[in-house]
Amino acid sequence: MSSRVDIYNNSYGNYEQDTYREVRLETYGEDFGQTSWVSTEESHEIPRLLALTPGCSVLEIGSGSGRYALYVAETARCQVVGLDLNAEGVRTGNALADQQNLSAQVRFQQCDVSQPLPFADGNFDAVFSNDVFCHIPGRLALLQELWRVLKPGGRIIFSDALVVGGTLSNEEIASRSLIGCYLFVPPGENEKLMEAAGFQRVDVTDTTEKAAEVARRWHDAREKRKPELTQLEGTINFDGLQKFLACVHTLTGERRLLRLVYLARK
Ligand SMILES: C[S@@+](CC[C@H](N)C(=O)[O-])C[C@H]1O[C@@H](n2cnc3c(N)ncnc32)[C@H](O)[C@@H]1O
Repeated sequence: MSSRVDIYNNSYGNYEQDTYREVRLETYGEDFGQTSWVSTEESHEIPRLLALTPGCSVLEIGSGSGRYALYVAETARCQVVGLDLNAEGVRTGNALADQQNLSAQVRFQQCDVSQPLPFADGNFDAVFSNDVFCHIPGRLALLQELWRVLKPGGRIIFSDALVVGGTLSNEEIASRSLIGCYLFVPPGENEKLMEAAGFQRVDVTDTTEKAAEVARRWHDAREKRKPELTQLEGTINFDGLQKFLACVHTLTGERRLLRLVYLARK
């Protein structure tokens, strides 16, 4: 849709630009190339929650710029495959893997994860996915695919920032959906779908408060660099993204949208 605001082509295509790097650092404190609501504390926790061990095989769904998958591969000494629909993200991820001499351990593939995944059954020890499921039509089919490609006992962690927690107006839903396809779900829906796909639920953590902070810091870091970002993205895109980030801050700050993190086991 031409009216949509772009976030991913700009963020991944301009990954190396100082302005984007500064925005990430000011937003998250540590630069993992993020374009999500994940806090740095959570980024550090994920390998531990997945019980990653050296040599294990890990799948990331919606790997974005790829920087976080590289961090996981390096710190946990495991193999990671990152899938993303965005060609700029995949290109950036593979270039970073080369630069960091990690291409034997990590690779990125362009893939629409709403379609069957290009892997054999029982291929992975663990799966992680930060703020991607909200974009995927047919969530049950994706969960069934992830169950299929995991080894028995394998773990999955994923977050969803679009769990409806209160009243939303049509204008708020439109602003929150400015950058693409979004699916809003009622509380309990992800738990129901995980169970239907065959997963055993381990834990659900509410990270809404942290997501509201990330949205505010992201908005403010961009606002400080308005002239540079307007030049890179164009005025319409800059303003649209600021409106989107302000909306995320309000809706999560007031807990009308919740961000939950789900940990489960095959
Ligand atoms: C909110 S970003 C999160 C990126 C990364 N996980 C992070 O934490 O920074 C969502 C990502 O999902 C990807 N995505 C959206 N729809 C997808 C699909 N159908 N298949 C694969 N990736 C998709 C986007 O390209 C984007 O990189």
